[in-house]
Amino acid sequence: MEIVLSGMRPTGKLHLGNLYGALQNWIDLQDKYKCYYFVADWHALTTGFDESRQIYDNTIDMIIDWLAFGLDPQKVVLFVQSLVKEHAELFLLLSMMTPVGKLERIPSYKDQIAQLGENKTSNYGFLGYPVLMSADIIIYKANYVPVGLDQVAHLEFTREIVRSFNNIVQKEVFIEPNPLLSEFPKILGTDGRKMSKSYDNAIYLADSEEETAQKIKTMFTDPRRKRKTDPGMAKECGVFMLHKIFTDSGVCSDIETSCANASIGCVDCKKILIKNLNNSLKHIREKRKHLLENEKNTIIENIKESSKIASLAAKETLQIAKEAIFNNYLA
Ligand code: TRP
Ligand code: SF4
Repeated sequence: MEIVLSGMRPTGKLHLGNLYGALQNWIDLQDKYKCYYFVADWHALTTGFDESRQIYDNTIDMIIDWLAFGLDPQKVVLFVQSLVKEHAELFLLLSMMTPVGKLERIPSYKDQIAQLGENKTSNYGFLGYPVLMSADIIIYKANYVPVGLDQVAHLEFTREIVRSFNNIVQKEVFIEPNPLLSEFPKILGTDGRKMSKSYDNAIYLADSEEETAQKIKTMFTDPRRKRKTDPGMAKECGVFMLHKIFTDSGVCSDIETSCANASIGCVDCKKILIKNLNNSLKHIREKRKHLLENEKNTIIENIKESSKIASLAAKETLQIAKEAIFNNYLA
């Protein structure tokens, strides 16, 4: 079976953008591939060493959302990056063959510095982010890596590292991974920008029905609809983008028409969404609450165990890589 691997930085509780973007994609792959999914806690440190003490809680919150939403630990290997030390050893070895200039030329490097500031990004580990990510991927010989568009350059970098390794050291230790880009629905936050934790515009799985209703009531709609009699373009409205996920397609087309001829008001349109969204998430939210209240310790124990399984796979590749590099290895 072909291998899929992906990681998420532990940002804490997941919002609808995370769930219906990346996570849904992960879940769709779990029956077709051997999947490894992990919490990229070392990656979180690259830009957040000053907030390192939140990582533990954020990790637990995130894993609970993964499980509540339907990631099945019987089908996939879930693990925590920092529990699989082999990633660090391979990262070190790969860093010996990575030109610094190449890292500096990856577009996300400059973008992130511009976005987060020098202060958070001037560390050595941040420069090496793509090298660590490459180690994460190739240590499992992953064929496919589901990622967002923002990570495609990192995947290309990984492919280049594999090619260099093949040239310099030995072929057939690592394989070149392919990005798996999937179409997922665009999800806007309550302020009309991309839904994101850092914009404080997100709706969370962990939100109560009341909080959800409140957020949707104040959500931006199509700015053409200043008055109830102004026609709108549902396709450009964040509320409608959520309807596309939570409301039957028949009702969606009705809303699109009624929005265009101003026969429905935004308040009523939002009421329908609130009801459908809360209904769709009801069981998942209950499961989340149940896991949090009753299963937390078991979940922690389980992920420690499954990290050992990941470690076994990682050890095997690492050993072969070391034998190739050192032309034999003292172990
Ligand atoms: N960089 C990824 C992100 O921010 C997280 C990540 C770390 C990752 N290592 C990975 C994703 C390996 C895929 C494969 O989303
Ligand atoms: Fe958006 Fe609905 Fe208002 Fe149209 S009626 S602008 S889809 S909230």
